[in-house]
Amino acid sequence: MKVCVIGLGYIGLPTAAIFAQKGLEVLGVDTNPTIVDTINQAKTHIIEPELDKLVFESVKQGFLKASLKPNYADVFIICVPTPFKQNHQPNIDYIQQASKAIAKYLQKGNLVLLESTSPCGTTEKISQYLSTIREDLKFPHNNKQPDIFVAYTPERVLPGSILKELVENDRIIGGITTQCTKKAIELYKIFVKGECIPTDAKTAEMTKLTENAFRDVNIAFANELSLICEEAGIDVYTLIKLANHHPRVNILKPSCGVGGHCIAVDPWFIISDFPKQSKLIKTAREVNDYKIHFVTQKITHRLLQKDYKKIAILGLSFKPDIDDLRESPAVKITKTIISDTQREIFIVEPHIKHLPQELSYPNVRLCTLQEALDESQLIIILVAHKAFLNLNIPTQEILDFVNIREV
Ligand SMILES: NC(=O)c1ccc[n+]([C@@H]2O[C@H](COP(=O)([O-])OP(=O)(O)OC[C@H]3O[C@@H](n4cnc5c(N)ncnc54)[C@H](O)[C@@H]3O)[C@@H](O)[C@H]2O)c1
Repeated sequence: MKVCVIGLGYIGLPTAAIFAQKGLEVLGVDTNPTIVDTINQAKTHIIEPELDKLVFESVKQGFLKASLKPNYADVFIICVPTPFKQNHQPNIDYIQQASKAIAKYLQKGNLVLLESTSPCGTTEKISQYLSTIREDLKFPHNNKQPDIFVAYTPERVLPGSILKELVENDRIIGGITTQCTKKAIELYKIFVKGECIPTDAKTAEMTKLTENAFRDVNIAFANELSLICEEAGIDVYTLIKLANHHPRVNILKPSCGVGGHCIAVDPWFIISDFPKQSKLIKTAREVNDYKIHFVTQKITHRLLQKDYKKIAILGLSFKPDIDDLRESPAVKITKTIISDTQREIFIVEPHIKHLPQELSYPNVRLCTLQEALDESQLIIILVAHKAFLNLNIPTQEILDFVNIREV
C-alpha cells in the first residue's frame, strides 16, 4: 500500500515514519525544500525521542522518501498547519493548498484523510473542493457510493512522547459516511494499539477542538486563581494543594500563560463559529492571554525597583522539556523585557541551539545554566524544565513563575 503524507512537521513526519516502519511505501511531501532534503538524507528536523532512529531506518530501507510534490498513492493524509488569522479567524489556506496539490493524483478507491486540527465542517469542505477539481470522480459529501473516501482522523499526541502516544492513544475517526470511517479505521489499525472509535466527521472535528478547549479552560481556572491570590496575599500553590485534598477537586498548576500550536489556537475555532454560545471558552482564552501580560508587568515592576545590570531568563519553550517555541508565553514575555532594557540578559533554554530571530539583540545571549547562575543578579524562571529542578541559588534573587522548588 502506498501512503502520501502532506506536511512533514511534528505530526506528519512521525505518522509517515510509523507507516514506513510497518512496511508501507510512504511518500512524505513538504513545501519546505530544506525539510525534504533533510529527510532524504535520513535525518530529522524535529527533536522528538526515537524519531531520528525511525526516520533513519525507514529512509535507508527505502520505505520513506520525501518530495516537494505528491504522487499517486492509495491514501493521502493531510497534516499541514491550521493557524488563525490576525482577528482569530481560522486559516485553512494550507489545507486548501494541500487538497489542490493532491487532486490531480486521486484515483478511484483512494482514501483522503485530514489530521490537521480544523474548524467544524472542514472535512466536508475538502470533499466539496476536490469534487470541483475532479468532476470525473464521485465524492462522499453528495454520493452514497463514492469513488473517493474522505475522513477526519485527529491527533492528540503529547510533544516529547509523540511516537509512543501515536501508537497507544485511542483515536477518534470520523468519516463523511460510515464507509469512509470504516476504511480509515482499517488503515490506522495497522499501527494504533489504542481503540479506534468511529463517529462522523463533524463530531470528530468538534471532539478535537473540545479537548483543547477543555485544557485551556482548566488552565485558565488555575491562572485566574493565581491572579486572585496575588490580590488576596495568599500563596496560590498552597491554596491549590489544600483544595486538591477534596476527593473530587483537581486544580492544575498556574503558569505564565498558554502557548503552543494547539491549546492557544484551537479554542478560537469554536469561538469564531459559535460566538454567542462560547462565552466560557472565550473568557478562558482571555484569562490565559492576560496571564502573559501580568507576568511581564511583574518583571518590569521588579526591574524598575532595582537596577539589575545582569539578569537571567530560564526557559523559552511553551511548556517544560520540549524545544517547541511556537506561541510560547515565555518568548512573548522575554521579547517585551528585552525591548525595554539595556541590561545584559542571559537566556537559558537547554533544548535549542540558537535564539529565535525575534530575541536576537546584542545584549542578549543564549548560555548554559551555570553561566547564567554565575553571572546574573536576578533569575527569572518562566518554564519548569527538569534541568532547572533543585537549583541551588543562595545569593541571587529569584522571580519564579512556575514554583520550581515543588515541581
Ligand atoms: N504538534 C502537535 O502536537 C499537534 C497535536 C495535534 C494536532 N496538531 C495539528 O496538526 C497539524 C500539523 O501540526 P504540526 O505541529 O505538525 O505543524 P508543523 O508546522 O510542525 O508542520 C507542518 C508542515 O507542513 C508543511 N506545509 C505547509 N503547507 C504545506 C503544503 N501545502 N504542502 C505540503 N506541506 C506543507 C510545513 O512546511 C511544515 O513542515 C495542525 O493542524 C496542528 O494543529 C498538532
